[in-house]
Amino acid sequence: MSNLIEKGKKASAYQAVDENIDHSTKIIGIGSGTTIVYAVERLAERVKQENLDIQCVPSSFQAKQLLAKNNLKITDLETFTSIDVTIDGADEVDKNLVCIKGGGGCHLQEKLIAYCAKKFILIADYRKKSTELGQSWHNGIPIEVLPSAYRLVKENIEKLYGGNAKLREFTGSTLGKAGPIITDNGNFILDWIFEIKDDNSGYDWNTINTNIKMIPGVIETGLFIDMAKVAYFGNADGTVTKL
Ligand code: 5RP
Repeated sequence: MSNLIEKGKKASAYQAVDENIDHSTKIIGIGSGTTIVYAVERLAERVKQENLDIQCVPSSFQAKQLLAKNNLKITDLETFTSIDVTIDGADEVDKNLVCIKGGGGCHLQEKLIAYCAKKFILIADYRKKSTELGQSWHNGIPIEVLPSAYRLVKENIEKLYGGNAKLREFTGSTLGKAGPIITDNGNFILDWIFEIKDDNSGYDWNTINTNIKMIPGVIETGLFIDMAKVAYFGNADGTVTKL
């Protein structure tokens, strides 16, 4: 990964933590991915320096490991259903703060901690900022599905909206083993590569999200609509653009 991208990730994460966490923050939701690693690093530094009294709700096995490695206190949504601040990465964010998440397959639990948060904050490097979804980063929209329903969900999404809903698979090893990627929750993921419209007009993501969620077997989509309050995009020169 280029140094400039890492610089952008770190800048966004550090600024988000510094501007949104203080002594009044008690419960923090922690997303997944590579950018969140910098946020946890900064959080751990500040907990030590300022003796902050915080507990963190992880969104994945990766996030839990990361918190444990940094000696941060771990809690869960059974203990707290209200979170002061949730910080998370994103795969792409549009001009209205609608975003796509789930590149790492963790969007189901990420959506839970985003939903429970009084303030949901996105952190990302400059490549993730788009006017319309699909413009800067077209890996599609991850959809977590019940394994036995993946074909019916795939066919129905494609029938409704076109594009290609691909089962996420690992590509095999020297042993030749290949197969579907399994989420932390034991499910499959479809990456729906939606069609980019020629005239660049956007989609009605709210309606699309609702209709996809109506298909039996869909557990959660990676579309986060009306959830984020602010996004921090770290630039290659270490500055941060806020949206
Ligand atoms: C995982 C996610 C991640 O937050 C998203 O993929 C961004 O990751 P990164 O910070 O590595 O770019 O949604 O499911």
